[in-house]
Amino acid sequence: MDGRTVFAAAGGEGFSAAAARFRAGPCSVVLLRDLSAASPAAFLAGSEQAAFGALKIPKRKAEWLGGRLAAKLAGADAFFQGVPLREIEVRRELTGSPFLVCRGERRHVSISHSAGTCGAAAGTDFLGLDIEEVAPRHPGWYRDYFTPAEREGRDEAAMTGLWAAKEALFKALGLGLSCDTLDADLSGPGPVLKGRALARWEELGRPPFALERFDPGPGLEGRLVWGR
Ligand SMILES: CC(C)(COP(=O)(O)OP(=O)(O)OC[C@H]1O[C@@H](n2cnc3c(N)ncnc32)[C@H](O)[C@@H]1OP(=O)(O)O)[C@@H](O)C(=O)NCCC(=O)NCCS
Repeated sequence: MDGRTVFAAAGGEGFSAAAARFRAGPCSVVLLRDLSAASPAAFLAGSEQAAFGALKIPKRKAEWLGGRLAAKLAGADAFFQGVPLREIEVRRELTGSPFLVCRGERRHVSISHSAGTCGAAAGTDFLGLDIEEVAPRHPGWYRDYFTPAEREGRDEAAMTGLWAAKEALFKALGLGLSCDTLDADLSGPGPVLKGRALARWEELGRPPFALERFDPGPGLEGRLVWGR
């Protein structure tokens, strides 16, 4: 997955966008940008339409909608082929962790949005996706969120990739950033977990997992964690 991701014009059920779709192991990944949704009601379930209507900030509305559409498209690829998108509902745990419900079936999904690009992955229960914009950071960001070994010899883009990897892993664990970023040391070939991250991974039965890089477009870093 180190090659360039190709975006192409896509559309359907009330929207048009530039979309990229690819597989990673058993997972379907969908990336969207330049989303124009003339009729969100065409792909949102009733409860989602109400939640969307309650959002006020345009940026949040756009990323919420793009994340949900990407999640539905990934879910349709992985599990619910041929089902109208408005029948694939995105719900959230109290922790914020999203999942899909379709015709009585429940499936895990992971969502991320950054700088106008939204992405989602579906296919396994242990799954986390993160997209992060490469941007200048305060020195404290490097100091506080990474181990000395992680900081060693990495430039801004590589550190952003490492951040995305941590977020993807913490999403797979269902913790998000309620977890200390130092609970995962990703400096070596295999992640070393401690603290809450380790406790949660053990609680889930120590699932083996892969951490993969993908290209969400210029100026962005993408990482996907999926359980084997
Ligand atoms: C999940 C989290 C890491 C996302 O960070 P982010 O880089 O700002 O945002 P991203 O676009 O990559 O991901 C956002 C998506 O993560 C998903 N998400 C939220 N909480 C999650 C969790 N506990 N586990 C897995 N996924 C989660 C949601 O689908 C969310 O999108 P949505 O709000 O449109 O549904 C972070 O928002 C978080 O941990 N939130 C909960 C804890 C919290 O609020 N802590 C205080 C701030 S430090």
